[in-house]
Amino acid sequence: MFKVFVTRDIPKEGLELLKPYCEVEINNLGRSLTKKELLEKIKDKDACITQLTDKVDKDFFEAAPHLKIVANYAVGFDNIDLNEATKRSIFVTNTPDVLTQSTAELAWALLFACSRKIVEADKFTRAGLYRGWDLYSFLGIDISNKTLGIIGAGRIGQAFAEMSKGFKMNILYTANSKKHDFEERTGAKFVDLHTLLKESDFVSIHTPLTPKTYHLIGKNELSLMKKTAVLINTSRGAVIDEHALVESLENKQIYAAGLDVYEKEPVIEEKLKELDNVVLLPHIGSATYKTRIDMSILAAQNILDYLDGKIPRTLVNKDILKS
Ligand code: DGY
Repeated sequence: MFKVFVTRDIPKEGLELLKPYCEVEINNLGRSLTKKELLEKIKDKDACITQLTDKVDKDFFEAAPHLKIVANYAVGFDNIDLNEATKRSIFVTNTPDVLTQSTAELAWALLFACSRKIVEADKFTRAGLYRGWDLYSFLGIDISNKTLGIIGAGRIGQAFAEMSKGFKMNILYTANSKKHDFEERTGAKFVDLHTLLKESDFVSIHTPLTPKTYHLIGKNELSLMKKTAVLINTSRGAVIDEHALVESLENKQIYAAGLDVYEKEPVIEEKLKELDNVVLLPHIGSATYKTRIDMSILAAQNILDYLDGKIPRTLVNKDILKS
């Protein structure tokens, strides 16, 4: 029987789909496996459902000579060496679409939290410091009629932008190419990064992490932003130079930042944790009950597609089809 290893327990809906056709082994330890444990587990497997915390590199592929498909339980796949996979004719799939709305919603949650000091105000209230309505307490910034800058207008970036409709915002975006439909739907304007950073009141990052986007936002870029601007990141931490961001927040060069992702997860710059003008979340972009179930189903469907002799529906390394 086709052997599948699941590197971390995922919602049962996907696993149930696999069970009639595959022998499914699941890591039920409630934590990610160490590299050594993982390499041991995959050595006789035909397929693997991986997490973004699993490093799927040359060592991984070498340890799994029977491997045919890696179904990553995430839309991002920067944890996987795609070239190595393609070279070995191993399919790699991800979980796009099903997490678009929840991730875009989380970016809005961060935007609201930063703009209206929600986290600070909550801490203050719980600490028993609320003595009655105060004219000067927790003043924040308005959202309506402002300029929203989207870095990376893919699925999530576009969904995030569309959610701004009620706030009547002016939308700017950067992307690899102009998105005509998106512009028609939202009135968004395609600009270069420099213009976007200079003109936006809110900048939200939705680009995948690639060698091209590594530290896309560094000291220079941060210095272009308005003093009143808010920076949101729900994509991958290393798109921002975290040291430069700390400096910019410390010097109040920007108003605030809302982060769901970090450069060296799970390690977070100590200084970030000391600042009031940043909201920190533990990478929960796709963390809703429904989305996590849908991700599990999609990961399983990709494996079943492979078993049916079909092209896995959300194949990432499409180059594999050329060989
Ligand atoms: C992804 O799927 O890439 C997200 O980062 C998970 O929350």
